[in-house]
Amino acid sequence: MPEIEIVKGVYSVGAIDWDRTIFDELIPLPEGTSYNAYLIKGSEKTALIDTVDPTKTGALLANLKKAGVERIDYIVASHAEQDHSGSIPVVLEAYPDAVVVTNAKCKGFLTDLLHIPEEKFVEVKDGEELSLGDKTLRFLFTPWVHWPETMSTYLVEDKILFTCDFFGSHLATSKLFAEDHHDVYTGAKRYYAEIMMPFRSIVKKNLSIVEELDVNIIAPSHGPLYRNPEFIINAYKDWVSDDTIENMAVIGYVSMHGSTRIMADRLASSLIEKGVHVHLFNLVTGDIGEFAMSLVDAATLIIATPTVLSGPHPAALGATYLANALRPKMKFFGVIGSYGWGGRTADILNGTLTLKVEKLEPLLIKGLPNEDGLKMVDGLAETIKQKHIEARIMK
Ligand SMILES: Cc1cc2nc3c(=O)[nH]c(=O)nc-3n(C[C@H](O)[C@H](O)[C@H](O)COP(=O)(O)O)c2cc1C
Ligand SMILES: [Fe+2]
Ligand SMILES: [Fe+2]
Repeated sequence: MPEIEIVKGVYSVGAIDWDRTIFDELIPLPEGTSYNAYLIKGSEKTALIDTVDPTKTGALLANLKKAGVERIDYIVASHAEQDHSGSIPVVLEAYPDAVVVTNAKCKGFLTDLLHIPEEKFVEVKDGEELSLGDKTLRFLFTPWVHWPETMSTYLVEDKILFTCDFFGSHLATSKLFAEDHHDVYTGAKRYYAEIMMPFRSIVKKNLSIVEELDVNIIAPSHGPLYRNPEFIINAYKDWVSDDTIENMAVIGYVSMHGSTRIMADRLASSLIEKGVHVHLFNLVTGDIGEFAMSLVDAATLIIATPTVLSGPHPAALGATYLANALRPKMKFFGVIGSYGWGGRTADILNGTLTLKVEKLEPLLIKGLPNEDGLKMVDGLAETIKQKHIEARIMK
């Protein structure tokens, strides 16, 4: 990536990862991603905000060289996860005058994860400022977006807020700024669903920290920058809010021989007829990131699975475990499926989902569902509709 000037003296020097298909061995990346790093040249000192994933260290060093950087004084570490910190040791070797500026918690993680020596750290406190001469960095602790140590850096004179994972999107693009809002919205929602959603209440607090600032540009460490910060702030407000729950049921299904699929399809069409939106999702072949994204707003989750070796199919158990860990704002949870002779499918799934939601009566049918069985599926659809009405999610 060429050196790109964001405003005078502030450059984007990170790397685009067009080919990456999965992140954290968990999140599929249909659009790739980027690891953004930023160089700030003050009249006296030069700072680098974050580095890049270790697989892209060469690209970062090349960009720094191209930018004519001979000396780096400070490497600001916003977050210790290796996609941003992993190149710090190599940058420290290439720029031996540099020190790592970060908070105490992040220093601890960086010591554990990268074995950076004690003397290379300068510790900062929440709200502390660091002068680069004509430019000033102010550090703002924004924990849990994504790890407990994550902080943002506000460039006071230029009103740029560097937020690391917060507001990031998994989107490889050569465009510096978010222009196609649809693409960025989807990439950012995917990011939010899997990284931020579990910490919804803390994200709300961090949003108010950002709103108190006068920000011209939000510069995250994945995906494009935002010249209109309201776009991404408003999207986040929507996603974290309990008031924006959708009249939608997500149906995640697995079916080996088609019986459970018939039940899932019938539930979907019955719900749609009754005015409840549906997202039907194949848990084996589908993109689990889309499943997570649909949970950002959905009121109900139904897991549809055959009984396999006395319990749910492992893909159904995995999806239930993930839904539980992501802590979405959904209100209702149910289990449906086909079985041959018996097992503990519903108990295992209901035991896995420990969120404060209402558990609907499970509906398990022996073998291929007959007309009576399908009527029972219609009954479940009616129950879901009534629950949505009672909870004022549906009119
Ligand atoms: C590998 C395998 C293991 C199974 N284990 C069980 C079981 O432990 N208990 C049970 O009731 N049925 C078991 N069954 C039967 C299925 O639950 C039954 O065939 C069901 O109708 C399959 O639904 P499907 O058509 O949606 O795949 C098993 C089937 C397979 C293929
Ligand atoms: Fe992260
Ligand atoms: Fe990240």
